[in-house]
Amino acid sequence: MSIDTAHAPDWTIPQDWEGYTAADHATWTTLYERQAALLPGRACNEYLAGLRALDISRGIPDFRLLSDKLLALTGWQVVAVPGLVPEDIFFDHLANRRFPAGNFIRRPDQLDYLEEPDVFHDVFGHVPMLTDPVFADYMQAYGRGGLRAMQFGRLPNLARLYWYTVEFGLLRTDAGLRIYGAGIVSSGGESRFALDDPSPNRIGFSLRRVLRTPYRIDDFQQVYFVIESLPALLDETVNTDFAPLYEELANLPDIPIAAIEQTDHVYTHGTQHYAAAH
Ligand code: PHE
Ligand code: FE
Repeated sequence: MSIDTAHAPDWTIPQDWEGYTAADHATWTTLYERQAALLPGRACNEYLAGLRALDISRGIPDFRLLSDKLLALTGWQVVAVPGLVPEDIFFDHLANRRFPAGNFIRRPDQLDYLEEPDVFHDVFGHVPMLTDPVFADYMQAYGRGGLRAMQFGRLPNLARLYWYTVEFGLLRTDAGLRIYGAGIVSSGGESRFALDDPSPNRIGFSLRRVLRTPYRIDDFQQVYFVIESLPALLDETVNTDFAPLYEELANLPDIPIAAIEQTDHVYTHGTQHYAAAH
């Protein structure tokens, strides 16, 4: 049987934790130590508390033990998948408080960049935030919202919300901007760039604005959106019916990725030097 057919209808596979080599575990630990040293003062407190609670510093976590901890905290589980899964399958997992995580780990020559999310991105990046009760509810609601967006033919818009929050979100705190996005916390380069570099725009989160803003998957972001708090994010999304928004969006153009709109709350008007040079 090929790898494409060896999964269940929900695309889950056994993690096969026993199958990891010593080199696989060493890759995890190298990445863990690098990011854990970088994140205090950069990642938000909710993320850092979650990372501590999960206790995943020594080698690739066994999803069974990880899920036990997470279930006790917020009722979420981590299930193994071979890589990216079809959108409806992904949303159904989220709607049922299951986070699908790739079970493979990057090669040693891919420490800094890889295209498909591996177990380090998925677990180190995403799972700590799932220990936060508010974020845990947001992710579940996003799963339901994804299935709904598909019915409206507006998934490309909703995907931008995931991208600019779950993957690349920043949070305003009294101590300054902090990272909560998984794509940032799991990347050495971007956890510096997202907060410190003068190049990208940093703009206050607005739901309509985000749904209209395209994103790039091949390099550091040109714009980051800053939420006021996790409860504010949950409130603005869960308690908004997206159906009228989706109708509006059908008649509105996208906003160019590096544009600043008159109504934006601008934290940083970026130089875009980085994007211009890459
Ligand atoms: N409230 C949204 C809708 O009506 C669903 C949603 C919730 C989407 C949370 C994203 C995040 O479709
Ligand atoms: Fe991700």
